Amino acid sequence: MAVNTMQNAITKICKMTSVIPLIELNNHQIAKPLAQTLLAGGLSTIEVTLRTPAAFKVLNEMAGVAESIGGVGTLIDPEDVQRAANAGAQFAVSPGVTEDLITACEKARLPLLPGASTPTEIMLLLQKGFLIQKYFPAEASGGYSRLQAISQVFPQISFFPTGGITEQNAANYLKLSNTICVGGSWVTPKKLVEAQDWNAIKKLANDAKNLS
Ligand code: 3PG
Repeated sequence: MAVNTMQNAITKICKMTSVIPLIELNNHQIAKPLAQTLLAGGLSTIEVTLRTPAAFKVLNEMAGVAESIGGVGTLIDPEDVQRAANAGAQFAVSPGVTEDLITACEKARLPLLPGASTPTEIMLLLQKGFLIQKYFPAEASGGYSRLQAISQVFPQISFFPTGGITEQNAANYLKLSNTICVGGSWVTPKKLVEAQDWNAIKKLANDAKNLS
């Protein structure tokens, strides 16, 4: 899969939503109800971070929820790419990028949304044809005002800010004409997920869905 084909797939996925919830799950058995809850709240796209040993099983469970679009996040090691694709990941998000990661995603036909946070990193990704880039870590790198300044010199790039995004600051990022959507874990707080408080998560999802 060529980079421009990846970009078309990523554009389609990002344009479906304003918010992509990030999840970090230790227990794959609650992956399905969590995906169903997010769907009921209006969010169909989910990023499953590879930060727990259960992540591949979580992806697999989510692939069984028909309307959910599960992607793999925190994808760093090229050796995890095929495994994530086999587990049902429909897209991949990485905090930065390497040549090997791009090659592995091309080979596995897994659309990649790579991360950058400096103008040079953005330009290197641009040179490779990536017109949609994760902006990470958004808040720690200077937040909305820094992204706004960066956006002015890269009008051709759409950004997916993540890292420190909350229900309070998300709307600000979404006001930028070249923020395609935002990502964050505020929709799926660990405590509520562990308590399987689906009603509370559904409300957070619905509030996130209504942000624009
Ligand atoms: C990421 O993986 O993109 C970020 O670590 C998410 O950050 P958050 O937990 O602050 O939303």
